[in-house]
Amino acid sequence: MDNTILVTGGAGFIGSNFILRWMEREVAAVLNLDKLTYAGNLHNLASVAHDRRYEFVEGDIADRSVLRSLFDRRKPRSVVHSAAESHVDRSIRGPEDFIRTNIDGTFALLEETRAYWEKLNAKDRVDFRFLHVSTDEVYGSLGPADPPFSETTPYAPNSPYAASKAASDHLVRAYKHTYDLPTLTTNCSNNYGRFQFPEKLIPLMIFNALNGKPLPVYGDGQNVRDWLYVGDHCDAIATVLQRGRVGQTYNIGGWNEKRNLEIVETICDIVDEMAGKLASSRRSLITFVTDRPGHDRRYAMDARKIERELGWRPKETFDSGIRKTVKWYLENDEWVRGVTSGSYRKWIETQYSSSVPRK
Ligand code: NAD
Ligand code: DAU
Repeated sequence: MDNTILVTGGAGFIGSNFILRWMEREVAAVLNLDKLTYAGNLHNLASVAHDRRYEFVEGDIADRSVLRSLFDRRKPRSVVHSAAESHVDRSIRGPEDFIRTNIDGTFALLEETRAYWEKLNAKDRVDFRFLHVSTDEVYGSLGPADPPFSETTPYAPNSPYAASKAASDHLVRAYKHTYDLPTLTTNCSNNYGRFQFPEKLIPLMIFNALNGKPLPVYGDGQNVRDWLYVGDHCDAIATVLQRGRVGQTYNIGGWNEKRNLEIVETICDIVDEMAGKLASSRRSLITFVTDRPGHDRRYAMDARKIERELGWRPKETFDSGIRKTVKWYLENDEWVRGVTSGSYRKWIETQYSSSVPRK
């Protein structure tokens, strides 16, 4: 086995933040396998593109021959599986890609990992890890007084995206239980930070606020998410990979529940402050629109297990993380322009043209 980790989906939001963090702090080389869907962006990784410890391969996790040749050639000691279709609204408009990548793709990756792992010598088999990056959405939706999701909360996924991630979690669990593949699963709450594609709430609102466009808030804006800065999530993934107990799942969250409307108002105020006010405060751009079908009301994570066992806790506060994030989008206009052309405009038109403003 070589000192290499295989990261899937490494050109996406979390994957690229994870690779940059890893290359800064760790010795092991990184092999990044990414299909480069609309969400994959190699510009994120420009600073490591020529590093001898980094290799990028364009390919699909559902393509077993690609996986087999990568395992044969690079002999990784771990897999960090973050490739996925990740946007809930897209899964509602077209679930098929979610089933193909998140379920069939994870299955293909597990099968090829198992075939490779079974041929390793006894010591390498023990040292090998397969870390599956998953989400809190597998647990469904909380009522206002419910305790946060723990690792033993029953699965109750509500969107096609959440169902496809739940299915992939179950496959990972089964590969540990049946074949003894040394797996780890992390279930994380909502991330925000640099490189997030502006289809998700926070970067979409920053982008629209900067450009004086309407800020579409679904329903009554009172849905709650538990926000975590992406750098903290990447630290947690590295921690679990290095020290997590095999076969365990770890919930990761920010201890930071906020209502969507509060998030959007905060962004308006920071953009007003950093970019200068328009004729009136950007809060006047807030537009309540038709709700997301099946919209989960509240997510919150109980992240005590990872703290107790591995000593991980988020470092960033929401106040510092959101300011950093707005500043990054302001300073990286070229990145934003690169991802908001062609197919992005088409998505925004499809998603929001049928959204009816609510008075
Ligand atoms: P993203 O959509 O930004 O990136 C996904 C990446 O996967 C892209 O680079 C894309 O090109 C790649 N990809 C998609 N299909 C592929 C395929 N078939 N083969 C190879 N590569 C493929 O997603 P993200 O927000 O960075 O999420 C990464 C992972 O973290 C996902 O598994 C997601 O479910 C999970 N997660 C995300 C969040 C969040 O808030 N964003 C929170 C918890 C968990
Ligand atoms: O909880 C973890 C999950 O967080 C990840 O698994 C997903 O990959 C990630 O996309 C995210 O899912 P959400 O659906 O919670 O994130 P999103 O940014 O799409 O929406 C956050 C909240 O904001 C949600 O309640 C819907 C609302 N929203 C979103 C958009 C895009 C709006 O009100 N208006 C919008 O235009």
